[in-house]
Amino acid sequence: MRIYVAGIKGMVGSAIALEAKAQGHEVFGKSSKELDLTDRVQVFAELATIKPDALIIAAAKVGGIGANSSLPVDFLSINLQIQTNLLDGAFAADITKVLFLGSSCIYPRLAPQPIPESALLTGELEKSNEPYAIAKIAGLKLVEGYRKQFGRHWISAMPTNLYGPRDNFELESSHVLPALIHRFHSAKIANANEVQIWGDGTPLREFLFVEDLARACLMLLEKYDENIAINVGSGDEISILELSKLIARIVGFQGQITLDSSHPNGTPRKLVDCSKISKLGWSSLVSLEDGILKTYNWFLENDAKVGIK
Ligand SMILES: NC(=O)c1ccc[n+]([C@@H]2O[C@H](COP(=O)([O-])OP(=O)(O)OC[C@H]3O[C@@H](n4cnc5c(N)ncnc54)[C@H](OP(=O)(O)O)[C@@H]3O)[C@@H](O)[C@H]2O)c1
Repeated sequence: MRIYVAGIKGMVGSAIALEAKAQGHEVFGKSSKELDLTDRVQVFAELATIKPDALIIAAAKVGGIGANSSLPVDFLSINLQIQTNLLDGAFAADITKVLFLGSSCIYPRLAPQPIPESALLTGELEKSNEPYAIAKIAGLKLVEGYRKQFGRHWISAMPTNLYGPRDNFELESSHVLPALIHRFHSAKIANANEVQIWGDGTPLREFLFVEDLARACLMLLEKYDENIAINVGSGDEISILELSKLIARIVGFQGQITLDSSHPNGTPRKLVDCSKISKLGWSSLVSLEDGILKTYNWFLENDAKVGIK
């Protein structure tokens, strides 16, 4: 196939592009500097010119709790613009296959665990990322709308927490796993004897290595054709304390890990139900330990060298 990857320079988009090339597909895509996806006219022109067989939407304004709560307009408005321009542009260019990426963090705050696909929109959202969630839900509904109104075989997926090379390691805006890698690395370099973790360390989280997600996306483009956004997860849960110990070991930090229970824990458990994607023959292949090691090596070769904050 000729596949256009929107967000090709990001963590997810770059992994999808690598996997797609490895599988023999022809891959297209531009950085945000080359093509601003909020520019509707340019997006329509780009898709009409390239006219790929498939479009994968891995471009979005993404970030942790801090970034979400301080930049609500960016997370709502920019994400709505990017995805709407791409989906409307794909329709105008008559693109056969589209895969839109949602996220497990847009399920209701108190969804049953493991979270089934049917839990979407059944309860109140997590307040801390509501603008992002509302935008993503609008994207899923637009995909559903194109299926219903225009008979398009477009699909959406709901990945769990992802990590891997090209993740965002900036402490101000990163997700928990890259933030812990960065913090333990800095503590090791500074010969610090303690790293403090927020909360009591008990919350359970699921993580998926981004190369596993990339394989899932390409499989879904070929095999999946349903209205519902399909979950993609590893099925492996780990507590924040155990994750911290694992990262400390991989990074080589030998000091103490302490807990600051005065900070909130967040949701006690977050795991997606992957029975649907399992039935299609997909499962994750990369263990958390191997994935963290690959991610840490990328961090050492890239962000750590330029002294990212
Ligand atoms: N990270 C996770 O844990 C996770 C979990 C579930 C779902 N997802 C979903 O996966 C997708 C990709 O996430 P990611 O983690 O790969 O994020 P990322 O590394 O920040 O990549 C996002 C990409 O979007 C591009 N982008 C943002 N604004 C743009 C604009 N105005 N014009 C053109 N490009 C723009 C960026 O381009 P440049 O780099 O060129 O600026 C970047 O390549 C998102 O839809 C996200 O919701 C992520």
